[in-house]
Amino acid sequence: MSGHNLDSNCITLTRFFLEEQKRFKEATGELTQLLTSIQTAVKVVSSAVRRAGITKLFGTVGETNVQGEEVKKLDVLANELFINMLQSSYSTALLISEENETVIEIEIDKRGKYIVAFDPLDGSSNIDCLVSIGSIFAIMKKEDNTIPNLKDALQSGRHVVAAGYALYGSATMLVLSTGRGVHGFMLDPSIGEFILTDKDMKVPARGNIYAINEGYTHLWDEAVKEYVQNKKDPAKGKPYNARYVGSMVADVHRTIKYGGIFVYPATAASPKGKLRLLYECIPMAYLVTQAGGLASNGKIPILDIQPTSLHERSPIFLGSKEDVEEILDIIKKHE
Ligand code: AHG
Ligand code: MN
Ligand code: MN
Ligand code: MN
Repeated sequence: MSGHNLDSNCITLTRFFLEEQKRFKEATGELTQLLTSIQTAVKVVSSAVRRAGITKLFGTVGETNVQGEEVKKLDVLANELFINMLQSSYSTALLISEENETVIEIEIDKRGKYIVAFDPLDGSSNIDCLVSIGSIFAIMKKEDNTIPNLKDALQSGRHVVAAGYALYGSATMLVLSTGRGVHGFMLDPSIGEFILTDKDMKVPARGNIYAINEGYTHLWDEAVKEYVQNKKDPAKGKPYNARYVGSMVADVHRTIKYGGIFVYPATAASPKGKLRLLYECIPMAYLVTQAGGLASNGKIPILDIQPTSLHERSPIFLGSKEDVEEILDIIKKHE
């Protein structure tokens, strides 16, 4: 047995990109360039996250973003990394970030054909206590050669060509789909490479976990109240386990791996929920759908929603097919 136990023929993320690229005769390599730049951003964010307590990267910058949230130092660093890496990859035309009020138009000599919507650092409230956080992205195409504008950014999830997330958890993992299944790559810090460890991930058809911020029970509508009540009532079947990290990436990753349901519903206080359509709901819905699960806003699939503004929010019910169908039935009953 060799000392480090690394498969000498392992599939690195870069090897995976190249193999995907070879499948399409007309591929120019531009998507590979783009994904490689995201890979670099994720590696740097991961390293920064691991050392944040030592390098004084915890805490806030004393500003609020367009959503009215307190901005953390790591939000800013991750955002700058994503923007700089994507900009210099010569593959993008337009960037949409949680942390930027308006679209970022790429200057003409660096412009490529893709549009990327991203949440550079997801789970900001968990940074300072070392709970898992992440990054999320969705990639779309710019369909014509006109000057990139807001309209190009407002594409439904049916136009996504690739999406993924990075989870900075007990290990760093990048989960990605380019439309042919969902694949997970674990970062091996000893060589600085992502290695394919979770090929063709599938969400179990049913789980036994529900994830929702239960502190908002008083703000839920009757359908959500009934569903969560049922999940705790032994008379209605074996009660589910409650798990809620408060970082969407971590909650969705667990849902893909173990099954169950993740819900961020509309509440009386926020009638469209909290999570943002373009860079949170759509990429996660794309991945979960690719993995055989469901993602709905309570009425229609998340992927069918036509966005009308950059930072618009949507309620989300996502996870195992049977669990999501169960809550959708209750919602229908209450209509
Ligand atoms: P972000 O840190 O990118 O602003 O996202 C926070 C989101 C998401 O990660 C999580 O699912 C949700 O906020 C948690 O919200 P609550 O604290 O209201 O439950
Ligand atoms: Mn935020
Ligand atoms: Mn987020
Ligand atoms: Mn964020």
